[in-house]
Amino acid sequence: MWLLRVVIAQLVLASIALAQPSRSSSTTTVTIVKKHGYPIEEHPVQTSDGYILTMHRIPYSKLTGNDGKRRPVAFLMHGLLCSSSDWVLGGPHSGLAFILSDAGYDVWMGNARGNTYSRKHASKSPVFQPFWNFEWHDIGIYDLPAMIDNVIYQTGQEQIQYIGHSQGTTSFFVLNSMIKRFRSRILSAHLLAPVAWMGHMESPLAKVAGPLFGQPNALVELFGSAEFMPNSRAMELMGQVMCNDQAVSQIICSNMLFLMGGWNSPYLNETMIPEIMATTPAGCSVNQMFHYLQEYNSGEFRQFDYGKARNKKDYGSKTPPNYDVAGIDVPIYLYYSDNDYFASLIDVDKLRYTMNPKSLKRAYRLPQTKWNHLDFLWGLNVKEILYDLVLDDMRSASY
Ligand SMILES: *[C@@H]1O[C@H](CO)[C@@H](O)[C@H](O)[C@H]1NC(C)=O
Repeated sequence: MWLLRVVIAQLVLASIALAQPSRSSSTTTVTIVKKHGYPIEEHPVQTSDGYILTMHRIPYSKLTGNDGKRRPVAFLMHGLLCSSSDWVLGGPHSGLAFILSDAGYDVWMGNARGNTYSRKHASKSPVFQPFWNFEWHDIGIYDLPAMIDNVIYQTGQEQIQYIGHSQGTTSFFVLNSMIKRFRSRILSAHLLAPVAWMGHMESPLAKVAGPLFGQPNALVELFGSAEFMPNSRAMELMGQVMCNDQAVSQIICSNMLFLMGGWNSPYLNETMIPEIMATTPAGCSVNQMFHYLQEYNSGEFRQFDYGKARNKKDYGSKTPPNYDVAGIDVPIYLYYSDNDYFASLIDVDKLRYTMNPKSLKRAYRLPQTKWNHLDFLWGLNVKEILYDLVLDDMRSASY
């Protein structure tokens, strides 16, 4: 039965999903960090529901070497279809992991279940459907707790500073609204392109897929979740239809990440394209997509909608419970922009006016009006435009 479900789910999604886009595995977080001469460690972390994640750590900068000092911890969490590679692709000048390392931080990078580096489980294989029964709610309540606890245990530090991009901010809100004990462990949170409410998401893909896949659940009840595995031919075709025919657009538009996050930014650092293509999309489950599309349809920031019957069983109510964003009292800094398909201005406003005003330490709207969702990672001069400010905020949060 599960086999049939997987097959059908894949067919529904990509219509002709037969193969994953081929990619070289020689470009990874570890190889990139090594290439630049920094130390890199890999730490396996098992979640309480059995997923085995890989954390990447740059313990100290090559500029200082290991001087035995205790460093404050920066914990970086990637977005949808992404991985720890996001933070190192820009190299020492533009990659946030390197910049933090040079600034004296002990840098830990998370990898959510299902991405390139976290495809293991104590008893389930990613080849089979049951492995993929998760979505970003689970990243918030299982992956983040396991990884943060591990970092605190390994470093002996009492608190971390959290930096998230996109889904790495969604899962942060999930964590803190579901599990209160982490409030005291997070000194501050710096959320890039924050995604909570999504009713005004501009992504053209959402507009196409929302009405179909953002319904309360039906498909999930029928099929279970599955690995999100878009077919490369289908991607090329979609890219041709959606993007105009500039040369760069053509290349990046065959990549699911850009089709969702936007391809029309004048800031994209083109020298990074080959490495971006080699490391992303990094994998996720279809339920992660469906949950975002449900938000787009409902305009609510709430748990997964399985349809009335199962909602009643799981949640005790016909509609899923909302995430209590107003109740979160961790110091939070938001950084957002006008040209963000995922985190639209209206939705970010909803977020910042819902938050506890005492928690909201900064809501920084970038003056670069064309800055898009992925520029928070790979925009030209992202250090000068954004990261220098984030570092200042991190320093002031620790006083
Ligand atoms: C563009 O990316 C490269 C890494 O591929 C990096 O070394 C460079 O600093 C970036 N350029 C700018 C202007 O941000």
